[in-house]
Amino acid sequence: MPMHSTSKQLWRDVQVFDGLAQLDEAMNVLVEDGRIAGLWPSRTFDEALAQGAVEVGSGGVMTPGLVDCHTHLVYAGNRAGEFEQRLEGVSYETIARNGGGILSSVRATRTASEDELIAASLPRLDALLADGVTTLEIKSGYGLTVESELKMLRVARRLGELRPVRVLTTLLGAHALPPEYAGRADDYVSLVCDEMIPAAARERLADAVDVFCEGIGFSPAQCERVFQAARAHGLAIKAHAEQLSNLGGSALAARYGALSADHIEYLDEAGVRAMAEAGTVAVLLPGAFHVLRETQLPPIELLRQYGVPMAVASDANPGTSPICMPTLMANLACTLFRLTPREALAGMTAHGARALGLHDLGCIAVGAPADLCLWGIRQPAELAYAVQAGRLRQRVFNGVVTYAR
Ligand code: NIG
Ligand code: FE
Repeated sequence: MPMHSTSKQLWRDVQVFDGLAQLDEAMNVLVEDGRIAGLWPSRTFDEALAQGAVEVGSGGVMTPGLVDCHTHLVYAGNRAGEFEQRLEGVSYETIARNGGGILSSVRATRTASEDELIAASLPRLDALLADGVTTLEIKSGYGLTVESELKMLRVARRLGELRPVRVLTTLLGAHALPPEYAGRADDYVSLVCDEMIPAAARERLADAVDVFCEGIGFSPAQCERVFQAARAHGLAIKAHAEQLSNLGGSALAARYGALSADHIEYLDEAGVRAMAEAGTVAVLLPGAFHVLRETQLPPIELLRQYGVPMAVASDANPGTSPICMPTLMANLACTLFRLTPREALAGMTAHGARALGLHDLGCIAVGAPADLCLWGIRQPAELAYAVQAGRLRQRVFNGVVTYAR
């Protein structure tokens, strides 16, 4: 991984989206020692600050490096066949209940070696990086045994060493019931709580723990056991909740101080209130909504009213969102969920970082780590408006330009 550069680097005349909003006028941005050292309007050129700086870019739009706070990037195989089945009218739930869906990816992932998983996942990671991602979360959940869940987490950590990117890892042992535990879901939850979580914590392989709280996943009572184990091991909590039905999983997660509740199409007002009170971020996953051709919209207006921060993520996974293009997610968040472009971009920067508990990332402010994107566009809203690969001109990770075209 490149170390940060010690020389001063200057960007001139950029339109800045600072993580929450576009700044009023063109700015100069100075980076030093891996951090943002100066940010001032271009018309008031600061000679003293810029002294000795190397100019590395000018013009265009600068945003924080994008934060993809919810991905299942590590897996083997693919599910193109199920895509065709769904187009013929078979539902995601029916496919899952017949042993396909998540379990189909589990079969492929269990037999893959770490190196094979790296080889399968790197192109997906590279696609995210080429579209501006500097921080991402990667979940396990296609192993469902202690050893194969840890294998997935090790692969996720290794991916973060192979590329200039921050990877946070999440143990999603409670993703689906593996076939060997059929009819014994509570016993499987015991395996997650008593063995997987302690092992992942001991080996420092997981930053957080996630669950799939759903009819085809785990009940709220089972998820609560997982949250208690996560808490006991000092791991952050996240939940896939209210994706296909309303079981109250988001409110439950909020009661456990969850960083985020994700999907949330079926979230009701009580759930929104619980999230607002706990400071739990709402992670919107428009890719999964789009691919599953869902019709139930997440309660965007209620989330706004209660001031719940909304993050937007790719949910990149082989079943419900085989899409590795974060700026497309910004577009879908606007077209499908009617977020404003400003909200969608905040969802992929400041609020995405918050959904990972990273409060100094996802923003352009003096003192923040210099994870930045320079885009060949004129206004930040264009990132959500147009769907077009190749607009990233420079990607800066930890103060180092790691990509330039
Ligand atoms: O975020 N909802 C559950 N988990 C994933 C999908 C996993 C899969 O189908 O492989 C999701 O949509
Ligand atoms: Fe997911």
